Amino acid sequence: MPHNSQVRMISLGSPRINSVSRILFRLKLVITGNPGVGKHTSARIIADKTGAKIIDLNRVAIDNNAIAKKTERGLEVDAKKLGSLLAKLLKARNDMIIVGHLAPYVLKPAGISMVAVLRRSPYELEKILKKRGYSLGKIRENLESEILGVSLYDSVKTFGRSKIVEFDTTGETPDQTTREIMRALRKKPKPAGIDWLAMVSRRGDMQKFFEY
Ligand SMILES: Nc1ncnc2c1ncn2[C@@H]1O[C@H](COP(=O)(O)OP(=O)(O)O)[C@@H](O)[C@H]1O
Ligand SMILES: [Mg+2]
Repeated sequence: MPHNSQVRMISLGSPRINSVSRILFRLKLVITGNPGVGKHTSARIIADKTGAKIIDLNRVAIDNNAIAKKTERGLEVDAKKLGSLLAKLLKARNDMIIVGHLAPYVLKPAGISMVAVLRRSPYELEKILKKRGYSLGKIRENLESEILGVSLYDSVKTFGRSKIVEFDTTGETPDQTTREIMRALRKKPKPAGIDWLAMVSRRGDMQKFFEY
């Protein structure tokens, strides 16, 4: 796939959210997807509800210097180094929420209960990435990647289809999304069948999003 170098870039942070009720949570949940889809926000809410520990892949990479090189677009991780760090880290406890767009490139499927791939309409994602102050080039790459479903495709390749659940965060509140994720942990929902490419094409916006 053409966008791998871009999806391996690191983007950081978003605000903390207060705790809700705690429930028993004994599994390893991966939350992945393109930058800006709502991964970290959802992870924090679920961690607050359940007491599970968040493993933020970007954070682990930076704290352990698993960085291959710095570019003007961000940091590029050393996927091999990060992968072996994580293999050890994930043995520490059962209840973990592993969050980051790097998930399909640095994790192994063993021990992972479910992989939540968050998706967001490129029209909404564009607004979020602009607000973050990303460069136009980086926005374009991320939107192309979301439209083509690179995170989903790569997650299916790494973890296998049976562990993957897609969530469309477009027009949803973080609470709605996290409720859906928690529900999916109990019972796997039907495939969401998200297809931004068809939507963008229908709206005649291929030129807007793709460079020829
Ligand atoms: N349904 C939702 N789930 C999670 N975050 C959402 C949702 N709707 C809007 N947001 C907002 O989207 C923005 C990006 O979320 P963030 O968690 O930083 O994304 P990511 O970690 O995937 O880059 C935040 O401002 C967050 O509050
Ligand atoms: Mg984030």
